Amino acid sequence: MSEKKWITHNRGGKHRVVVTKELPGPRWLEILTLADCQVDICISTDILSVDEITTAFGERCDGAIGQLTEDWGSSLFEALKGSGGRAYSNYAVGVNNVDVVAASKEGIPVGNTPGVLTETTAETAVALTFAAARRVVESDRFMRAGKYKGWLPTLFLGELLWRKTLGIIGAGRIGSAFSHMMIEGHKMDLIYYDLLQNEELEDYVAAYNAFLSSQGEDPVNCRRAERIEEVLREADVVSLHTILDETTRHLINKERLSLMKDNAILVNSSRGPLIDEAALVDHCRNHPHFRAALDVYEEEPEMKPGLEALDNVVIVPHIGSATSWTRQGMATLAASNVAGILMGYPAWKNSDISPFLGDDPPQGRTEYRERQGDWLSPL
Ligand code: GLV
Repeated sequence: MSEKKWITHNRGGKHRVVVTKELPGPRWLEILTLADCQVDICISTDILSVDEITTAFGERCDGAIGQLTEDWGSSLFEALKGSGGRAYSNYAVGVNNVDVVAASKEGIPVGNTPGVLTETTAETAVALTFAAARRVVESDRFMRAGKYKGWLPTLFLGELLWRKTLGIIGAGRIGSAFSHMMIEGHKMDLIYYDLLQNEELEDYVAAYNAFLSSQGEDPVNCRRAERIEEVLREADVVSLHTILDETTRHLINKERLSLMKDNAILVNSSRGPLIDEAALVDHCRNHPHFRAALDVYEEEPEMKPGLEALDNVVIVPHIGSATSWTRQGMATLAASNVAGILMGYPAWKNSDISPFLGDDPPQGRTEYRERQGDWLSPL
C-alpha cells in the first residue's frame, strides 16, 4: 500500500477490488459486498500516481475502480493483470484517461458510467451559459466588494439568449440534453456539428415546432452543419460535447476562435484540451464582449496564466456531474461494472442504464464501446 491512507471494507472477501478514491453513497459498497469482494479504498484526496496504484494492487487484485485524474495506461493494466486483475471501471463516462487498447491487450474490459450524468452535466452547461451571458460571477464579486451603490440602467449589461442561436459541437447524449434545455427553455435555433446526423434530436425539434405552431408561435430552426466553422460563425452560444482524443485536442484554436462572433459565449463542460487555453486567454483579453465558461482545463487542475484574471471568463472546478444523485449513480454503475465482470455477467447492451439504479439490478455491466472511426464521437 502507498503512503496515502486506505481503508478496507468486507475484509476477507473472495475477490479483492482496489478503489482509488472514496465514492459517495452506500449502494456501491453493498453491490461489491454482495459480489463477495474485499474493497480497499484510498481515502486520501490527493491524486494517486501510477506507482502508488500499482503498489496498491499488491500480490492480488481482481478488479479496480479508478478516477479520470489517473493515467490508466499500459503500465497500470499490465500491473493489474499481473496481480490477477480481470475488471476495470472508470468512475466517469469519459475514458480519455484510459488506454482501452492496452486494457484489451491484457484481456481487461473497461467499464464507464454513462447515462446517470447526462442531464446533470447538461444542467451544468446551462448554468455556465447563463452565468457568462448575465455576468453572474462578476456581479457577485462586485456585491461582495461592497461596490453596489444602487440600481443603474447600465449596470452589468449582459446578453439575452431568447430566440438566439445555439451551437453544439458533438450532439451525443449530453449535447442533446443541453440542446433540449436551451431550445425548449429559451426557444433558441440550433446548429450542430457531429459526424453523425442526430435524427432523434431533429425529430424532437420538429415535434416541438408542431407544438409552437399550435400555440401560434414561430418555429425554431434546427440544422446540422457540414463544418465546425459554420457553427462557430453563426452561433451566439457554442457548447462543446465531444470526447477527447488526438483528433479533438485543440479543436478550438486561435483561428477558430477568430471566426466566432465578438459577443459569443463558448462553453466547455467536456474536456479541457479541446480548447487551446492559451489562445483562449489571448482571445478573451482582446475581445472584452466575448465570454467563456469553463468547467474543465487543458492541464487540470492548473489554469493557463492569465485565465483567472479575466472578468469575461467563468471558471468552475470540473463539477459537471457533481450532484449527489449522479455521483452516487456513477458509483453504483462503476461497482456494478466490476462486480458484473467478476461474477461473469455479460455486457449490458441497452443504452438505458436506469435498471442498475433500482433495488433489483440486472446481471450485467456497462462496457465502454468506441464508435469506430468517429473522430468526434460525443459524450
Ligand atoms: C466527468 O467528467 C465524466 O467524464 O464522467
